[in-house]
Amino acid sequence: ICNRSFILKSYITQSELLQKVKGVDALVCVLTEKIDAELLDAAGPNLKVLSTMSVGFDHLSLEELKKRGIRVGYTPDVLTDSVAELTVALLLTTSRRLIEATHEAKSGGWGTWRTLWLCGYELANSTVGILGLGRIGVAIAERLKPFKVKKFIYTDVAPRPELASLIDAEYVSMDELASQSDFLTVCCALTPETKDICNKDLFSKMKNTSIFINTSRGGVVDQEDLYEALSSGQIAGAGLDVTVPEPLPTSHPLFTLNNCVILPHIASASYSTRNAMSALAANNLLLGLKGQPI
Ligand code: GLV
Ligand code: GLV
Repeated sequence: ICNRSFILKSYITQSELLQKVKGVDALVCVLTEKIDAELLDAAGPNLKVLSTMSVGFDHLSLEELKKRGIRVGYTPDVLTDSVAELTVALLLTTSRRLIEATHEAKSGGWGTWRTLWLCGYELANSTVGILGLGRIGVAIAERLKPFKVKKFIYTDVAPRPELASLIDAEYVSMDELASQSDFLTVCCALTPETKDICNKDLFSKMKNTSIFINTSRGGVVDQEDLYEALSSGQIAGAGLDVTVPEPLPTSHPLFTLNNCVILPHIASASYSTRNAMSALAANNLLLGLKGQPI
């Protein structure tokens, strides 16, 4: 089906990709590769299918792909469980201060049992807010419910009654989401509309006992505003699986904060999910070349 292809032995830079992509019929990419006009021009007119091994597609210029009639595949659904699981793990790690706690235990900070030492915030009786309700937001809420969450609220561009009814979530405004959430978890895609949507305005309306979690894309957060909110005590903590840039430089101020837990974009990183994503990306590519639905 495919006239020209190559298998990467290891990760390559964008400039190497620009050279090697010339003449290919189909391309599998990951979220760190920028698929824009320059890349598509470098590939040339043979390119019929682009298959990304990710659920996010903010690294793709959809307009440019459409203009050239290139079909696009991505990998939703297969990673929902893994991402939801990791989000819960990150939320609990942040709210119960587990990174600080293991550090204290190892480094001699564990003097004796103390009443308020390493206290955090619990899910029982809390209100959990979801910014952008989709498959992943629903899956997170389903997992959090057994922790005795009192109420789920969400916001989105419009109410999503079918998804919301699965988790009994109430549609609220962005302001209400900020002011009512004890835990606010970001589950939206990065688009021009959601870029920097989590900024000073949002953080200033949050409770100073609330926990902010982001496993979507770093670009939805204004990191300077987040740093300010965390260091001033405006909010209690943040758990981030995604940042701008990635990797976040080790000298970044967010790394100096005890109340900020940063993971290296691993939400879908389970063996079974990465295998399923690879298979789906490969299958999308083959179906696309055959002109079948992807
Ligand atoms: C991960 O971030 C993905 O988009 O699959
Ligand atoms: C804690 O270990 C307790 O006994 O309360």
